[in-house]
Amino acid sequence: SRVVKLAVIPGDGIGPEVIAEALKVLDAATASSDVTIDTTHFSLGANRFLETGDVLTDADLDAIKAHDAILLGAVGGVPGDPRLVGANIERGLLLKLRFSLDHYVNLRPTVLFPGVASPLANPGDVDFVVVREGTEGPYVGNGGAIRQGTPHEVANEVSVNTAFGVERLVRHAFAVASARPRKKLTLVHKTNVLVFSGALWQRTVTAVAAEFPDVTVDYLHIDAATIFFVTDPARFDVIVTDNLFGDILTDLAAAISGGIGLAASGNINPSGQFPSMFEPIHGSAPDIAGKQLADPTAAILSVALLLAHLGLSAEADTVNTAVTADMAARTGEARSTATIGDAIAARI
Ligand code: NAD
Ligand code: IPM
Ligand code: MN
Repeated sequence: SRVVKLAVIPGDGIGPEVIAEALKVLDAATASSDVTIDTTHFSLGANRFLETGDVLTDADLDAIKAHDAILLGAVGGVPGDPRLVGANIERGLLLKLRFSLDHYVNLRPTVLFPGVASPLANPGDVDFVVVREGTEGPYVGNGGAIRQGTPHEVANEVSVNTAFGVERLVRHAFAVASARPRKKLTLVHKTNVLVFSGALWQRTVTAVAAEFPDVTVDYLHIDAATIFFVTDPARFDVIVTDNLFGDILTDLAAAISGGIGLAASGNINPSGQFPSMFEPIHGSAPDIAGKQLADPTAAILSVALLLAHLGLSAEADTVNTAVTADMAARTGEARSTATIGDAIAARI
């Protein structure tokens, strides 16, 4: 039988609550298969920082690297907590993992499941995937400030886009599009204003398109893309975009498809050199943490992405089918985090 070594990082706020349910479902989905999931828990995040002063040590990173995959809840302390000033858990933990483990593909599918209410009156058949760049753009931390705190302060935050980084991501997005029925790829950028990075992204898409003659290509500026997310989201199939645009678009995608509590993601290292990491798109939600109010579905769907990534497609299908049935049966009555996890696990 196959053993999968899974690093689990529950994190902060609602992270541990949704991960408890995700692990319940993972257990149920693998109970009768010949796969054994061997989990190691890593206590990382704001709480770990408050206890030890560490965010992510080299030893933590080495230990995580020795796993086949990572499941993460959410990280981030309570905004305004004076003890966390300067800690920057998001950059020091989450982004450090994505960058160190070369998670250049940030895969964020959006499906409006049958029975799920969208805030849009006529959403249509929403089924698209955002292929967000994960290791470059404005996230690289190539910034600085001078004369800080004075009226003459200058703060720079540089967006880094490399030919290597853009091309590998774009090629991956074309492959994703080519494997889907509609075979359509939309580049989203801001080429009218961000002329240097925009030219690199546009030129790369045009060049790689020649390798995928079956894929239809179009382009939208980021601002216009947000219009169509609300007026006609069914037009999208695969969207390829940079790290920051992809971050913003995928919270909007979650909102139109039933809410942030349903939105899953994978941070993928396609070469397999490092473990890929699966996590709900949402954060630690300090406003509802500790109250069993969080929807664990996003974390559970992230488990399905994880199983599929590991080649365990039967187990992934089991999870997706159970979630789909749970969604279709929702009555609008409020359920606790654990009640939703139990219901989905019971369907498996
Ligand atoms: P958030 O996603 O935590 O919360 C935004 C809103 O969505 C809140 O009203 C919250 O209650 C709600 N929400 C989130 N998840 C939900 C769920 N599963 N079920 C029901 N409602 C849910 O975003 P934020 O408030 O901007 O950020 C809070 C903290 O989380 C910050 O420290 C931020 O940096 C961090 N963050 C971490 C991640 C991550 O770990 N991947 C992602 C986003 C934000
Ligand atoms: C996300 C989050 C992160 C991001 C933050 C917390 C660093 O918002 O996963 O979408 O911007 O990528
Ligand atoms: Mn985000």
